[in-house]
Amino acid sequence: MLLQVESVVKRFGGLIALEHVDLQVEQGEIVGVIGPNGAGKSTLLNVIAGVHKPTSGSVHFAGQLISGLNPDRICQMGIARTFQIPHPFNRMTAFENVLVAATFGSHQHGKTAAARAQEMLDFVAFPVDHQTAAHSLNTAQLRRLDLARALSSQPKLLLLDESAAGLTPNELIELQQLVFKIRDQGTTILIVEHLMRLIMQLCDRIIVLHYGVKIAEGTPAEIVSNENVTQAYLGEKYLL
Ligand SMILES: Nc1ncnc2c1ncn2[C@@H]1O[C@H](COP(=O)(O)OP(=O)(O)OP(=O)(O)O)[C@@H](O)[C@H]1O
Ligand SMILES: [Mg+2]
Repeated sequence: MLLQVESVVKRFGGLIALEHVDLQVEQGEIVGVIGPNGAGKSTLLNVIAGVHKPTSGSVHFAGQLISGLNPDRICQMGIARTFQIPHPFNRMTAFENVLVAATFGSHQHGKTAAARAQEMLDFVAFPVDHQTAAHSLNTAQLRRLDLARALSSQPKLLLLDESAAGLTPNELIELQQLVFKIRDQGTTILIVEHLMRLIMQLCDRIIVLHYGVKIAEGTPAEIVSNENVTQAYLGEKYLL
């Protein structure tokens, strides 16, 4: 088991964002986390990445207890993540942004950080000049930059938070191909997403959160026919 989340509770004051959530991810899987707004999806990624310490429960990665470690340490151990809202260094170029991240992971494979940054921008098929200033990138370009940044630490597990938000249909197809390409080169993926069609096509397995509680888990086919899930999504704009 690559990732094991056991009975994780996360409280923010009186609000329970995660309530005894269990999740296992095996090496090589693409696992999806879905659920209505405020369900606790980003909080779950933040707990795994070390941004939030769980109120109780534990997270193990590759057999080691990681809950309680800080985000830098967890990143060094092989977990990288993208952000629901990417925050690049706006005054730097795209290349410099990835270079900063690659510098932290540059001990790997003996490559220079610059070579690694270049390789990652090529891998994500970064669509504009690498010297473009980050502040002038559009949504799709920013999401690719954020992916290149995350991949530059050569993660074993990549956490994606709504990478599809704001993308056009064509960009969505490209994103899907890119996620498969990342998995095929050996990175396991845990993806939070609102777009059902995308998640159904991408994932081997899906878990559904609703008000911090895991209400379902299964293959895409099992999830679409699960009554708890259809109920939870009633009135939501992204119906199954
Ligand atoms: N740092 C925080 N402090 C206080 N409350 C928080 C914090 N982060 C999240 N919450 C609350 O926890 C709950 C879960 O939030 P979270 O962002 O994990 O939901 P989500 O499933 O990612 O939603 P969305 O689909 O809108 O991104 C929400 O009620 C949110 O307001
Ligand atoms: Mg979120």
